[in-house]
Amino acid sequence: MSEVTVLKIGGSVLTDRSKERTLKLREINRIAKEIASVGVRDLIIVHGAGSFGHPQAKRFDLDVPGKCSYETIIIHNVVKELNRIFIEKLAENGMLVVPVHPLNCTISREGRLENMMTDQIRLMLKNDIVPVFHGDVIMDRIWGRAILSGDQIVAHIAKCLNAGRVGIGTNVDGIMDGKKVMDVITPEEFCGVKKLLKGSKDVDVTGGMASKANELFKLAEEGISSHVFNASKKGLVINFLSGERNFGTIIRGD
Ligand code: IPE
Repeated sequence: MSEVTVLKIGGSVLTDRSKERTLKLREINRIAKEIASVGVRDLIIVHGAGSFGHPQAKRFDLDVPGKCSYETIIIHNVVKELNRIFIEKLAENGMLVVPVHPLNCTISREGRLENMMTDQIRLMLKNDIVPVFHGDVIMDRIWGRAILSGDQIVAHIAKCLNAGRVGIGTNVDGIMDGKKVMDVITPEEFCGVKKLLKGSKDVDVTGGMASKANELFKLAEEGISSHVFNASKKGLVINFLSGERNFGTIIRGD
């Protein structure tokens, strides 16, 4: 395992999903401060789109296969807007951060991320730069374009860089079995847990917790564990980055 840490902050943590293009500015500030305060090296950040992508993509039917169009660019631009704001806050807190837009460096095949340029990411880490990815709309070899979730990015980059730590900060306490948070999920339990999981109650073009867990289960099958936790709760991003594991759900890959 390398020292690389991949941290995703979900769009529901950074934005208000009930209103289109609405930020949770206080939360963005808090999360940026928390990340910066720990000063983890070899960190890759990924964030979701929230209300800066999901409702717009739904409106233009971008969740079904189709050709690249003007609407595709609108979605890319709106999620880039969120990326710029988040990056600005991270930079204000002293971090050396750069945006990485998946549209420019990844390709999918029928909605599955197939290829991503990673040499520049490795060099960024070597130079103490923190790349900040986001869910995006990207070029698809078969469909023309596809929506790429931040969770697919997390799983792909974690695998490519053999990440030592993978964290998914959401607005729920972890993977739930009814009202109870599951502390640990082992590979033997993946099948059973899949049956428990649902999509999202908000407009969600990437499938909510069910598809998030799916990505993480696949990652676990590659031997990489991940940690789903509530980033809307103060201090938990700090705790994750500091190496604490006694909260949320650990999806065991070993
Ligand atoms: C969605 O990315 C990308 C677009 C809708 C363009 P995510 O699926 O990672 O976003 P969140 O975390 O659910 O908001």
